[in-house]
Amino acid sequence: MREFSLFMSQFLRHPKRVSAIAPSSRWLAQRMASEITKDTGQIVEIGAGTGVISRAILAAGVAPQDLTIIELDPNFCKTLKAQFPDCNVLEMDAQDLGSLELENVNMVISGLPLLSIPVSVQHNIIKGAFDLMQPGGKYMQYTYGPKPPIAQEVRTANDLAWRTLKKTWLNIPPASSYVFSQNSAIVPQAKQG
Ligand SMILES: C[S@@+](CC[C@H](N)C(=O)[O-])C[C@H]1O[C@@H](n2cnc3c(N)ncnc32)[C@H](O)[C@@H]1O
Repeated sequence: MREFSLFMSQFLRHPKRVSAIAPSSRWLAQRMASEITKDTGQIVEIGAGTGVISRAILAAGVAPQDLTIIELDPNFCKTLKAQFPDCNVLEMDAQDLGSLELENVNMVISGLPLLSIPVSVQHNIIKGAFDLMQPGGKYMQYTYGPKPPIAQEVRTANDLAWRTLKKTWLNIPPASSYVFSQNSAIVPQAKQG
C-alpha cells in the first residue's frame, strides 16, 4: 500500500515523467525478467520507480552485484537504495547511460515512459543503451499502446529489430513487452539440407 501511495504522489508531482497511475504488476515484472538466463551477466534497469521489476530481476536469479538500477526521481531512489542495498542504485538520467563504466552488460530492462519522451532524448537513451551493452545485447521495454515503444526514426538510426513477448493482461492497463536488438548482431540461421 505504501508503494502505491508513493507511486501516486510522484505521479501527481511529475505526471509526464512517471506516466502511469500504478506500478507494474508482478506478472508484468516477471515477463520483463523472463529473458534472463545464467549467461546474461550484468543487467541495467532504467526507470525503476518503486522497484517492482528490480525484485523480479533478482528473483530470476541475478546476483545483486550484477544489477545496476537507474532512476531519476530522488524519492524513488531513496526507497530503491533502502530495498536493494547490495545493488548499484544510481540517481541519474537514463540519457547518460552511455557514460557508465560497466563491463559485461548484456541486457537493459526499461520501465521508462519512452513514448512520452521527445525523440532526440529517446535516441540518446537507446544509443547509450546499445553502446553500453556487448554485441547481441537485448533492450527490454513494455508499453500500453499498440505500437512499438521506440519511435521509428530512433529504431532506424540504431538499426533495431524487435520481437514481442506474450501480452500481460494482469496489469493496469494490460501491457506488451518488446525485446529490441541490433540487426547487425543477429546471426542468420544456417540453411538446412
Ligand atoms: C512508468 S514508471 C515505471 C516504474 C517501474 N519500472 C514500474 O514498472 O512500476 C516510469 C519511471 O521512469 C522514471 N524516469 C522517467 N524519466 C527518466 C529518465 N530520464 N531517467 C531515469 N528515470 C526516468 C520515472 O521517475 C518513473 O519512476
